Amino acid sequence: MQEVIQVHDRQFELYLSEETIQTRIKALAAEINTIYQDHPPLLLVILNGAFMFSADLMRHLTCRPEIQFIRIASYGDEMVSSQTAKLLLKLDVSLHDRDVLIIEDIIETGRTIAFLQTHLQEQETRSTKIMTLLYKPDQREIDLQPDYVGFSIPPEFVVGYGLDYAQQGRELRAIYRLKEG
Ligand code: IMP
Ligand code: MG
Repeated sequence: MQEVIQVHDRQFELYLSEETIQTRIKALAAEINTIYQDHPPLLLVILNGAFMFSADLMRHLTCRPEIQFIRIASYGDEMVSSQTAKLLLKLDVSLHDRDVLIIEDIIETGRTIAFLQTHLQEQETRSTKIMTLLYKPDQREIDLQPDYVGFSIPPEFVVGYGLDYAQQGRELRAIYRLKEG
């Protein structure tokens, strides 16, 4: 695995290896399998970033999960979070009375998730929980706590494993962080 990579104009260094990520995902899946054994979850995956995480997670689920995808625009090609969110891809299935498990790649300010939660309120789900692979608690602006967190990380910009820097780097199997200087 490469230690330092270049994405566009910036250098990134290895942060979470493929093995570290996969080991953590297996543990998360085991937790989900236990909790949702008697009430199968509907994974609600936020595109684009969470596509890889959700695919790997789902392969370890034995609790008869279903999966749906939505898209929320809240980030441009910059490294700073934007203030507004917009639903780009609408759901064509009902979430009424379902046990919804939101799958996100990373939670930073919490704005994206807060926006989605507001949107889901009118659907009257049976339960709504949040799983995120990465969580930057120091960047939080909205008072919400994800129910399942892969890794809590410092407020650094990361790419790989679904996460992009200006649309590049999503294919990487590991997660890399911005190299200073
Ligand atoms: P929030 O709305 O501020 O919580 O931001 C969440 C979204 O911002 C994520 O779904 C990502 O698309 C994006 N994001 C936040 N931090 C990073 C990062 O370090 N690398 C890549 N994308 C990020
Ligand atoms: Mg995202």
